[in-house]
Amino acid sequence: MKEKIKQLKNDFFNEIEKISDLTALEKIEIKYLGRKAGELTKILRQLRDLPVTERQEIGVLANQLKKELAQKIREVFQLLKNQASQSAVFDVTVPGLKPTEGHKHLVTQAIEEIVEIFERIGFSRRRYPEVEWEWYAFESLNMPPNHPARDEWETFFIDLKPVGPKGQRILTPHTSSGQVREMEKGQLPIRMINISKCYRRQIDISHVPMFHQFEGLLIDQQVTIADLKGTLDYFVKQFFGSNRRARIRPSHFQFTEPSFEVDVSCGLCDGQGCKMCKAGWLELGGAGMIHPNVLKAGKVDPKKYSGFAFGWGVERCYLMKAGLSIPDIRMLYQNDLRFLNQF
Ligand code: PHE
Repeated sequence: MKEKIKQLKNDFFNEIEKISDLTALEKIEIKYLGRKAGELTKILRQLRDLPVTERQEIGVLANQLKKELAQKIREVFQLLKNQASQSAVFDVTVPGLKPTEGHKHLVTQAIEEIVEIFERIGFSRRRYPEVEWEWYAFESLNMPPNHPARDEWETFFIDLKPVGPKGQRILTPHTSSGQVREMEKGQLPIRMINISKCYRRQIDISHVPMFHQFEGLLIDQQVTIADLKGTLDYFVKQFFGSNRRARIRPSHFQFTEPSFEVDVSCGLCDGQGCKMCKAGWLELGGAGMIHPNVLKAGKVDPKKYSGFAFGWGVERCYLMKAGLSIPDIRMLYQNDLRFLNQF
């Protein structure tokens, strides 16, 4: 029996040295290790007929050989495969590998859409600094130093000395800081859409310390509330859908007079009130007619010119459009592809 095993081993290694393709390898595997009639399988099967004294010794030898053969077969298999792939010709008919395609972040998508909507009615995109002087964010907007209304903007201050009337450097808490900057260019009429990152000291399920606003500003002769209302209606229909309407309610901002809160009718119940919206209307954000003091700060003559402005959150608008109530707005900025891929 021992002899037989030795012989088997020799035969196997002789044969396997000679082969050069995978089919031959498969044949050898079947010949020696095949489950039904493999040479080594047969020996293993005969073990139980041997006397106990021999059984153990032969068993160990046979099982060792089995491992050895299987190992060799694996090695030769790898070798042949590598050779095959190295010598393979380039097959132009094999379908190519397609890299997975990404897409723009939903906030970028929303910004692009908003800009396009306003460009169609003559507004141009502007960007103003994220690191801003207090003066543009507050004083020029009719909020003198220490005015209590400033508290509403939960501002981040930069730890640098104030510079004269410009005040301290801050992270801009709203895009309204671009109003007087735009007026200072001295080109009238104005139709700008200023979109930028804004910062406030707030973080919870409905606030992130960094978010985006888009600010419309129109200044011309004889601009009225009707123009503001028409523009809001236009935007709401373009962005949310032709069945939606805008509504304005009295509100208060230091830099607009009169001031409004703008709502959009709920897409599900059309203003009737339902589970999704409660009162039939969803709040977009602030708007109003430019306060004469703000025009003056931008060196625009309030006797000749008037205008309107509105400033809303990009994230908020986009989520309202998608009819989404995501449980936590911070999800937008956690870069989890399982979430982002849905948009
Ligand atoms: N800047 C205001 C805010 O951040 C919104 C606003 C913009 C209100 C323009 C009136 C006019 O809440």
